Amino acid sequence: MLSGSELWLLRLMADRGLALLDASTLLMVVEERRELRVAASSGRVSARVRVLPMEGSALGALYMTGKALSLDRPRGQEATWLHELGLEARAVLVEPFSLDGQGGGLVIAAREDSGFRDPDRRALNAFAASVAQRLAAERSVEIERLRFGMEARERERTRWAREIHDEIVQGLGALRLKLANARDLGDQVALSTAVDTVLEGLGEEIDGLRHLITELRPAALDDFGLVPALEALARRAQAIDGLEIRTDIELGDGERRLDPELESTLYRVVQEALTNVSRHAKATRAVISVSERDGRVTATVTDDGEGLPDDGPSRPRTPAEELKGGFGVSGMRERAELVGGELELVPAPGGGATVRLTVPLAGRPSPA
Ligand SMILES: Nc1ncnc2c1ncn2[C@@H]1O[C@H](COP(=O)(O)OP(=O)(O)O)[C@@H](O)[C@H]1O
Ligand SMILES: [Mg+2]
Repeated sequence: MLSGSELWLLRLMADRGLALLDASTLLMVVEERRELRVAASSGRVSARVRVLPMEGSALGALYMTGKALSLDRPRGQEATWLHELGLEARAVLVEPFSLDGQGGGLVIAAREDSGFRDPDRRALNAFAASVAQRLAAERSVEIERLRFGMEARERERTRWAREIHDEIVQGLGALRLKLANARDLGDQVALSTAVDTVLEGLGEEIDGLRHLITELRPAALDDFGLVPALEALARRAQAIDGLEIRTDIELGDGERRLDPELESTLYRVVQEALTNVSRHAKATRAVISVSERDGRVTATVTDDGEGLPDDGPSRPRTPAEELKGGFGVSGMRERAELVGGELELVPAPGGGATVRLTVPLAGRPSPA
């Protein structure tokens, strides 16, 4: 499948090719899973057909020859693939290109009222080569993006593994030890005291585990959507940390859903920003605001605390610190980048600090 940015690139190049060849129509056809797809077209005639099978179509047969072609006043057999595409032309040029090991495609240029000459053929040949080159470059960027995303997820799992180990496994281990010691003493009174202590401890571990599960994937996000989930987050921070928190959320009619990845990014960033407010800011108040304007979603958390330290929160942290401190500022940045957005930490007017996440909505998947 062609990615959004590959399609965009092909469209851009189709316009360029049209101008370059002074053609009336220029088509970019790309091989995709044993089919040929008109991925972009520019000019007067847009192809009526978008997809043709590789086997059993005249265009497929032409593609499989792997050769360039030039036709003047095409007739009969040689015009069959033009009919398949719904294209009428006085003259056509076809130039194949290949993406090493990953298929290839055709660039088709048509003119309605004059023929093509040798320089046109050479120009199209060079143009098709540059299409292939740009596509290959775009693909390697895509692969980089995927790898970056996977690494980020892996790092996050490592943090969770550490968290579960430190919080739960250690706690349970201590309880087991307590019980085993009491049993070995062989003293009934000591044993029954130990059982009481361990029962209480188990209750705490269960609470801790519940808390971790909520952190891992807030059910509120899936069940009720971003707005109620953020409001719940604000209420919790208010109750636990004694902060006075105002939410100012303008997202369509309040029922507006964004795609799951973006929702969870907004949630996580607000969550971490709030944690930082209660941990570091010495604030009494905070405002969470989320709005959608000019094709972007912006979320900010502003506090009235003592502001960011002079050396800035961007001091690189040691791996141990990375693992301990939630996902911190670097994690918020990483998440912002994964959704094509940006994260800023700036002084807030009148003291405190503002964390601002801005994400463009163009090209995002539709909400589930
Ligand atoms: N709202 C805030 N007010 C003041 N300082 C902050 C605020 N948010 C972050 N910081 C500073 O940025 C540092 C880095 O934050 P972070 O990366 O989340 O790490 P951690 O919270 O584990 O210390 C904090 O240690 C703190 O000094
Ligand atoms: Mg933090």
